[in-house]
Amino acid sequence: MAHEVFDRVEALIKDIEQATATTPEAVEAFRIRYLGTKNVLKPLMGEMRNIPNEQKRDFGQLVNRAKEVAQAKFDALQAATAAQAGADAGAKFDLSAPAEPLPLGSRHPIALTMRRIISIFERIGFTVAEGPEVEDDWHNFSAMNTPEDHPARDMQDTFYVAAGMPAGPDNADMLLRTHTSSVQARTMENQQPPIRIIAPGRVYRNETISARSHAQFHQVEGLYIAEKVSFADMKATLLHFAREMYGDKTKIRLRPSYFPFTEPSAEMDIWWGLESEHDHRITKGTGWLEILGCGMVDPQVLINCGIDPEKYTGYAFGMGIERQAMLLYNITDIRLMFENDVRFLKQFAGVL
Ligand code: DAH
Repeated sequence: MAHEVFDRVEALIKDIEQATATTPEAVEAFRIRYLGTKNVLKPLMGEMRNIPNEQKRDFGQLVNRAKEVAQAKFDALQAATAAQAGADAGAKFDLSAPAEPLPLGSRHPIALTMRRIISIFERIGFTVAEGPEVEDDWHNFSAMNTPEDHPARDMQDTFYVAAGMPAGPDNADMLLRTHTSSVQARTMENQQPPIRIIAPGRVYRNETISARSHAQFHQVEGLYIAEKVSFADMKATLLHFAREMYGDKTKIRLRPSYFPFTEPSAEMDIWWGLESEHDHRITKGTGWLEILGCGMVDPQVLINCGIDPEKYTGYAFGMGIERQAMLLYNITDIRLMFENDVRFLKQFAGVL
């Protein structure tokens, strides 16, 4: 009889030792069965009164051993499942995996085009010059051989700015520059030849906004003044620019034109071709596209800016940036450039 109870405890110890539990739920079931308030070892203590006195001590020790084995087993099972849970979590968060890339911005097509133009001229010795966007009448017009009553002022509808006063004919000295040619005057006033600069920047004209024109846009101005600078020098430089910009087979053509600050003056076209319907449309069926205005700096401009026209000659040119950006990137509406819709801008991601 007593033997039988000893055997039951031994069997329980064996069960406990062999128990397995791989989930937290199974570990908890083990705990309830062997260590909980109603665990299977408890009723054994009630058997004590049936055990002969000389065996009571042994029996008590055996039951205690069963409890210890159960506790040790529970600890081991719990540690094992916790380690497994940790390993699972580790798989979900692989700390060695590469991080999500940070979203990068993109360069604006105007900035891209501007940088390209600047770098072409920088490589042949031009340096960048800058001037203010809010300009006075002298640098924008008068110094550039366009006095007040000059009909050429009508070519460029000007936004006048008057500090604290409505703009008007009596108060028209300050304006938003209509072209980057104003930087020519500022540079020549401060520097004697040789002068070889390009001046990129924003300009403003009071124009109706449409798909093709805007009241704000960008230009790059060029100016080279030294001894014996010729029209042929200008043509060679502009041909170099056109080929760097549009490909080394690009053809150019210079058409006579008029600008108050140059004499003679010309407009330069590049041969775009007539392959597609789009080519026909943008070249108005001619195959040629106008890219810039240029000419030999008028001696009167040199005099206005303190440079001796007997000693020095020079050429100048000016070009719009938006139009070239539209050509380079197939953009059909200039307004897209100023709306800053990210769906438009992000298409230039990665373009250098
Ligand atoms: N300033 C002129 C414009 O805004 C462009 C231009 C033409 C600039 C001829 C020049 C030049 O320097 O020589 O349309």
